[in-house]
Amino acid sequence: MKVAIACDHAALNLKNNLIKHLIAEGYDVTDFGIHVEGAVDYPDYAIKVAEAVAGGEADRGILICGTGIGMSICANKVKGIRCALCSDTFSAKATREHNDANVLAFGERVIGAGLAQDIVDMFLSTEFSGAERHVGRIAKVTAIENKYFK
Ligand code: RB5
Repeated sequence: MKVAIACDHAALNLKNNLIKHLIAEGYDVTDFGIHVEGAVDYPDYAIKVAEAVAGGEADRGILICGTGIGMSICANKVKGIRCALCSDTFSAKATREHNDANVLAFGERVIGAGLAQDIVDMFLSTEFSGAERHVGRIAKVTAIENKYFK
């Protein structure tokens, strides 16, 4: 599985440690930064991962900032992206099964490194349920997207 990942200055160490873990687990990881310390603007990095996933260069995306909120807001502005802000493994599992979320966001200032790794593992290893009711609801999400995204 191809995974695109990025962070802002709030989460550089966490992002780098997660990349090591993901590579050890066999994922094909593209690191969209940041690569050095120093303040940046989270939209500049959220867009890189969102475009990689929306464009099919990556199967899933991971975005980390201080809270995960800014990253998730940005990613969800990109057509085709269903970004889930998760601070627990139950939500990470549910958003894959129910929402077929393709990007995960979380906050380095919100959760610890161990929980972040468990959330990432859960998100990447859980398949969409494919249940008719969920397919129908996602189709309605896409209909909203098609109405408002030009
Ligand atoms: C950076 O200070 C912080 O605002 C950012 O990492 C993120 O939490 C925004 O949503």
